[in-house]
Amino acid sequence: MTTPIYDFVKAYAEKNTVRGHMPGHKGKTAENTLSAVFPYDITEIKGADALFEADGIIAESEKNASELFGTYATFYSAGGSTLCIQAMLAVCAKQGEKIICARNSHKALHSACILLGLSPVWIYPEFEDGSAVSGKITPESVKRLLEENTDAACVYITSPDYLGAVSDVKAIAEISHSFGKPLIVDNAHGAHFAFLEENIHPIALGADMCCDSAHKTLPVLTGGAYLHTASEKYAEKVKGAMSLFGSSSPSYLILQSLDLCNKYLAENFRGELSETINRIEKLKSEIKDVYTVEESEPLKLTIYALPCGLTGRELADRLRESDIEPEYADETHVMLMFSPQNSESDFERVKNALLTVKMPRICLEPPHFEILPLKKAMEMREAFFSEKETVRTDDALGRICARTETICPPCVPAVACGELFDKNTIKILKMYSISEVNVVK
Ligand SMILES: Cc1ncc(COP(=O)(O)O)c(C=O)c1O
Repeated sequence: MTTPIYDFVKAYAEKNTVRGHMPGHKGKTAENTLSAVFPYDITEIKGADALFEADGIIAESEKNASELFGTYATFYSAGGSTLCIQAMLAVCAKQGEKIICARNSHKALHSACILLGLSPVWIYPEFEDGSAVSGKITPESVKRLLEENTDAACVYITSPDYLGAVSDVKAIAEISHSFGKPLIVDNAHGAHFAFLEENIHPIALGADMCCDSAHKTLPVLTGGAYLHTASEKYAEKVKGAMSLFGSSSPSYLILQSLDLCNKYLAENFRGELSETINRIEKLKSEIKDVYTVEESEPLKLTIYALPCGLTGRELADRLRESDIEPEYADETHVMLMFSPQNSESDFERVKNALLTVKMPRICLEPPHFEILPLKKAMEMREAFFSEKETVRTDDALGRICARTETICPPCVPAVACGELFDKNTIKILKMYSISEVNVVK
């Protein structure tokens, strides 16, 4: 597998060229831990191609990625899945149109709806034990909403979601297509899905477009992501839409890491991924008598902490005492993400730490709340750009939300712009320690 971006930049860095171009560091910095990368941080000089009008080394590298993922076309993003989500929606829906969206979606979806003036109709997943952020979307609920909203422009789901819940993308794609609607999947957490023994990548299962945050599960620098398309129809429009929102100075460090990742995916990844998944399965069986492990996509370990007599945050703090930093913890859950870059000793340390945690083992009561559809008082964009004020969360009852209120991670909003705060939502926000909210004046 070729690595054209990496090769070009490496050759350039090794020549003693006078850099009469951006960036201002000219490939140099004072001696520090980042010094080694500065020579490789370049801009669109001659031969380096241009991300949003790629026809040279970037196009060649994207074609390599497309072959590896089995897509019609794959485009790189140096602005994460966030940029891909904006672009996918921009090519599928017009201002004012409805889109059918999963409620366990990331804030990036809300931002895209505000930017593009879209009107989401929410599908509520079957939320997991005491979680207000994660769950599966059922094909039946998608069908019902498509029957009720025949004018919707597309269906948008998030699978896997932040805690690892995986929906039946194949069935949802079939239903969406039977109504003549494209399916977009936020696969930010599932770049590795194309390389599992059974390929369960959204494009293989029938999605029309999806985004993968390469940086979340593959050895790619933060910000590196893919936008994949299944057909020519959207591929032609995607670059233009990406350039609408993306910086005209994408990081060549990120692009090189995406380029190098192709070689890794082609050579070693499948075997290493399968070994890592076996190792995670082993870890799960080693801790199963002590912990309740949620069903999730294979690279995540999601523990429901309450039966140990600890909140998710308390369990995370216990792990930090052993120098283990989880990806996420909240009132009920703690979640760790692994990849083939974790060593055998990492797994041993996690196992030992988990098995030596002192815990009361008196099951804590799960928080009591229901996830109920909220009343919409305004379109998202209108609410976001309205005059607003900040109030205590306790005082927000009946007010219109003017900012998507969420904590990051997981960045899954409990209330969307334009919706009315109800008692239940206030309870959820307080559970996530959100003490102030923005409301329309
Ligand atoms: C489900 C989901 N979608 C989208 C995003 C945004 O991805 P990125 O950080 O690559 O922009 C995230 C980020 O955490 C996410 O968890």
